[in-house]
Amino acid sequence: SGHVTTRRLLDMKQNGEKIAVLTGYDYTIARILDRAGIDVILVGDSASNVFSGHTTTLPITVDEMIYHARAVVKGVQSATSRAMVVVDMPFMSYQLSEEEALRNAGRIMKEHECDAVKMEGGSSIAATVRRITDAGIPVMGHLGLMPQSIYKYGSYKVRAQEGAEAEELMKDARLLEESGAFAVVVEKIPSALAGEIARSLTIPVIGIGAGVECDGQVLVINDMLGLNREFHPRFVRQYADLNTIIEDAVGRYLEDVRSGDFPSPEESY
Ligand code: KIV
Ligand code: NA
Repeated sequence: SGHVTTRRLLDMKQNGEKIAVLTGYDYTIARILDRAGIDVILVGDSASNVFSGHTTTLPITVDEMIYHARAVVKGVQSATSRAMVVVDMPFMSYQLSEEEALRNAGRIMKEHECDAVKMEGGSSIAATVRRITDAGIPVMGHLGLMPQSIYKYGSYKVRAQEGAEAEELMKDARLLEESGAFAVVVEKIPSALAGEIARSLTIPVIGIGAGVECDGQVLVINDMLGLNREFHPRFVRQYADLNTIIEDAVGRYLEDVRSGDFPSPEESY
């Protein structure tokens, strides 16, 4: 027990303990995740998709990320809370200059006291990662499929299936570690490559669609709870069917309201 720190995640990797990460965007779910014992809650910019309904992660703003982060941090503020809270830096909040990146990372950290920020990219952001970690802000990297670059890729297909991109990914992962990152997410890459990266880095490698050889796993909470009937990629294991549960509950409520069965005398004053 005790609050999960970057040090703790390193120890977990060294001890061969797998790290369990889920995304979270609000107070209610964050509280449930924390009490269930999750190691890290990622306030992902996937909020752009699953909270706001955008097609990509690009539209979400720093202010909107801060709004979600504040709610999640409130959910993990009880005396027994342990989950580390990591907040995604949104598209174009860290690419313009190191200074702009530091200012935005600082705002995200300062306005609600989360534990760390996350950024997509390798060599292109290494100097920025160094600058931000030097300022005392822990940085998690994100390589492989980087949803903020979806217009560059043109599709959400598996990354680094060929030698050149795989080699570059390995180099980027090492560079992020050298630049001070405390962990790195790898998304939608072959499991053998993810395993190779995990073994060659000291810092934990957290996978999504990257196989079992990673040091930990992350999933989008809405996907694993089955809140979106239309989204079933192979890397999502669905642990609940909340879509059906909510539909059934709402359907019965409709019936009860329309029939006059709800509220009963016992539910009235
Ligand atoms: O935004 C997000 O949910 C993420 C995870 C999928 C790693 O970046
Ligand atoms: Na993200």
